[in-house]
Amino acid sequence: MLKKIAELEEKASREIEEAKNMEEIKALKVRYFGKKGALTALLRRMGELAPEQRPLAGKKAHDLRNKLEELLDRKEEKLREAALAARWEEERIDVTLPGAPFNLGRKHPLTMVLEEITGIFTGLGFQVARGPEIESDYYNFEALNIPPDHPARDMQDSFYFSPKILLRTHTSPVQIRTMELQAPRLPVRIIVPGKVYRRDDDATHSPMFHQVEGLAVDRGVTFADLKGTLLLFAREMFDQGQRIRLRPSFFPFTEPSAEVDIACIICRGEGCRVCGQSGWLEILGCGMVHPRVLEVSGYDPEDVTGFAFGMGVERIAMLKYGIDDLRLLFSNDLRFLRQFR
Ligand code: DAH
Repeated sequence: MLKKIAELEEKASREIEEAKNMEEIKALKVRYFGKKGALTALLRRMGELAPEQRPLAGKKAHDLRNKLEELLDRKEEKLREAALAARWEEERIDVTLPGAPFNLGRKHPLTMVLEEITGIFTGLGFQVARGPEIESDYYNFEALNIPPDHPARDMQDSFYFSPKILLRTHTSPVQIRTMELQAPRLPVRIIVPGKVYRRDDDATHSPMFHQVEGLAVDRGVTFADLKGTLLLFAREMFDQGQRIRLRPSFFPFTEPSAEVDIACIICRGEGCRVCGQSGWLEILGCGMVHPRVLEVSGYDPEDVTGFAFGMGVERIAMLKYGIDDLRLLFSNDLRFLRQFR
């Protein structure tokens, strides 16, 4: 019996030592410790021994079991470490290699100009307001004092869903929507960036473009406030020495109305091709809010006054960056877009 134990010890130890992976370890466990395992069989046969032989043989067999268990544990541990090391090696990366550069996106020039315009006015205490691009006839025209037979309502100019629903042709309807919500609280001071739509499409017109609307209503607001605000805007937007000029004009929702020019940023007023030799460039329309517009929106025109203005963002962007074709802004050519930071 003692010889058998010694043989088993010798054979099992060697096999464990030579095991190459976890599967083999598993098989060895079955081979020695399983129900029909060699060690199990051996232990079972202790009963056949003479009583005086049992204590020594029993002890040897138990010692062997402990030893083999320990050998298996240690071997398992070794195999696990080896597997981990192999994986480390396989996944090794050289962190000193140069990285693969990837392209960072950047803002579209129109977005930058839109944000810059909005930022100048929020700095003056105006709050950003927005309205729907699908607008009703009432807000887009009627409430703005544009009657049904007014040329501005011509079907040619607008995209209609139905006779009373259209894509807004300007951001001015947000004037009405804001005042309706806010009346009679004062002051109203909003700046409205947004998309507008018209049935135009050529080198200087796109069926979709952007406007920024401004509105200030309070007691005692004057035309001088309008002019001062717009002068400040022109200087912030273009340059601090910028001059502006107001020309009388007409809009149904303002009275009086004006168009604002800045001194040509190319020739500074001398006259050149860009300004058509006039020395001036038109940048926006403005005026004092028409009493009817105040009234339909819930304000008393005897009590309050206001000024409003509206500008085309594409036009401002083209002037600011010297872009000569509006379509560049919409064709998404990266060679063009990458020039703006
Ligand atoms: N809504 C006008 C347009 O789209 C622009 C405009 C002119 C807006 C005068 C105003 C304004 O608020 O007072 O042509």
